[in-house]
Amino acid sequence: MKNNLKIFCMSFVALFLTNCTCSGGKNRTDFEIFHDMIKQQNIKAQEGDEKGTFMRLPPENTRAQNREYYPYKGDPEGAEENLKNPFQGQFSPELIGIGKRQYERACIYCHGATGAGEGAVAAKMTVKPPSLLADKAINYSDGRLYHIIHEGQGLMGSYRRQVRSEKERWALVNYVRMLQKRTVRE
Ligand code: HEC
Repeated sequence: MKNNLKIFCMSFVALFLTNCTCSGGKNRTDFEIFHDMIKQQNIKAQEGDEKGTFMRLPPENTRAQNREYYPYKGDPEGAEENLKNPFQGQFSPELIGIGKRQYERACIYCHGATGAGEGAVAAKMTVKPPSLLADKAINYSDGRLYHIIHEGQGLMGSYRRQVRSEKERWALVNYVRMLQKRTVRE
């Protein structure tokens, strides 16, 4: 009898401690010892606050870490004017080696080994790729060449996913510059 009383008392205490939130009906299985987390004043994801704000916009000037932001999207002239080459005039074997590898991976099929447009795929194209050694491409700024790699131009698609890092793209720009210089010299 004494034992029974003890068990009865203990289960009463246990019930008190777990503080069952049974209001949600029989399908609700969560037990909260402390109610603060349930009873707090909060706004559910799809609820507006008193100002009618729903999903909040991130504060100004914040950026997701895992996204690349390209400020000259749809603005080739802006890139021509303002996008500066951090490796301008650098033709070290290391940098040119990186550029050459990218050119041979992504561009050579159309623009050809010399850049004149004699690539293997170009032979089968109805609209031929223009020569990168022509005045038009020579007169583009480095920023514009980067832009063409990043965004494409007319019939040529974007190659930013093939030439992935900024350094590789600028190295590729410098490699194109080297092809242009080489031809002008010869
Ligand atoms: C599938 C073929 C193809 C590949 C691969 C290709 N291009 Fe092009 N490229 C073209 C064509 C076609 C044009 C002309 C686009 C237009 O203006 O309509 C062009 C235009 C250009 C121009 C502008 C030339 C001008 O006179 O306006 C540059 C610079 C250029 N490509 C560089 C590159 C670089 C660097 C790569 C490698 C990342 C590359 N291209 C890969 C086909 C290609």
